[in-house]
Amino acid sequence: MDRQLLERTDTGMPTRAVALDIDKIRADFPALKRRVGDFHLAYLDNTAATMKPRQVIEAISEFYSLRPANVHRGIHLLSEESTDAFEAARAKVATLLNAARADEIVFTRNTTEAINMAAFCLAERLKPGDEVLCTALEHHADLIPWQVLRDRKGIELRFAAVRPDGRLDLEDWYSQLSERTKIAAFAMVSNVSGSENPVAEMCAAVRRVGAISLVDAAQGVPHMPVDVQAIGCDLLACSAYKMLAPFGIGALYGRYSLLEQLPPYQTGGSMISSVSLEQTYFAPPPSRFEAGTPAVGDAVGWAAAIDYLQGVGMQALHERELELSRYLHERLSEVPGLKMLGEYYPGKPGIASFGLDCAHPHDIAQFLNEEGVAVRAGHHCAEPLHRALGFDSTVRASLYLYNTEAEVDQLIHALHTVREIFA
Ligand SMILES: Cc1ncc(COP(=O)(O)O)c(C=O)c1O
Repeated sequence: MDRQLLERTDTGMPTRAVALDIDKIRADFPALKRRVGDFHLAYLDNTAATMKPRQVIEAISEFYSLRPANVHRGIHLLSEESTDAFEAARAKVATLLNAARADEIVFTRNTTEAINMAAFCLAERLKPGDEVLCTALEHHADLIPWQVLRDRKGIELRFAAVRPDGRLDLEDWYSQLSERTKIAAFAMVSNVSGSENPVAEMCAAVRRVGAISLVDAAQGVPHMPVDVQAIGCDLLACSAYKMLAPFGIGALYGRYSLLEQLPPYQTGGSMISSVSLEQTYFAPPPSRFEAGTPAVGDAVGWAAAIDYLQGVGMQALHERELELSRYLHERLSEVPGLKMLGEYYPGKPGIASFGLDCAHPHDIAQFLNEEGVAVRAGHHCAEPLHRALGFDSTVRASLYLYNTEAEVDQLIHALHTVREIFA
């Protein structure tokens, strides 16, 4: 099942063909060998969480076997090794995102915590009358923190509309961006419609009005090369478990000159320069934002996941996903009575949300599970987006580097069976 893919340079020009050996990749993932009854497991719930390769599992196991000591505080061998591994993981995330320096990576629990941290730390810069510009296609993690900020600070929260085709209404977004905008927060890729926003162009516009940009890249970083310097964002959030790594860790990237100006999110150990009973001096970023003992083992696992992904090649992975996304959307369009949330366009990432006219999404997902197909049903933490496009809930199928055309076929076959049973 070798796929010849074109690797591209920064200019987008193809340079050389690389093969993504999907059989070889699949062999690295123990969970993908599982079966559901008599069926092959077709794991198509990658937007929610990806599977983990043995290289990541082994790296975590090695860390806990050999050096499970706390970081930063010990002068003994195991603590030094643990600290080195933790900081090496930070450097690896920085390299993945092309951050200017490792200190621009703040480890968090996940994207949600990263965005909450940003909203909390930016609060003191805002005054009544200021505006935050968000969009109607956000995951709740990039929506509720801004509502809370609005209520705390008496600012205005605006939402750019979503178009019927599932894409952000850029015209509306531009019309709402103004000198009053102090923060603009938007997703790189919608976790429901799968549509991708032109984040570099949007960040440039945010910069022009003197506001701060925050990119929710939970569905971007795992799936494509992401270069924070080229994007020009001030802040960017992502989660590790959506890119082969363990649960429990994510990151807030922040331009260092901005991070330096922000107050801490939480306070306590590990985030100080000095403490007296009267006063505390906070450590510089990123420690200032990492109070308490961090998820060291998870960071080690994330570093191994990045090694794995970079071994495959982010561009090669992206091209393969786009190819499989086209196949998924083509095949879904053959299913009678299937209504897509949003429309396919060439280059659309591999996320497809839909309903069937004959059954509720939860019943569909349950039936698909019996046929070995793992998908998700619900509003996927994006109720406003569903409502805007006339859905209560949807079934969502989403792809990653180990998925195959045969698994898409398994999904389509099961959907036809659903229709036969329910219609
Ligand atoms: C676009 C997007 N933003 C934010 C999140 C929240 O991520 P987490 O639950 O890891 O904090 C998700 C999770 O699926 C997402 O897809």
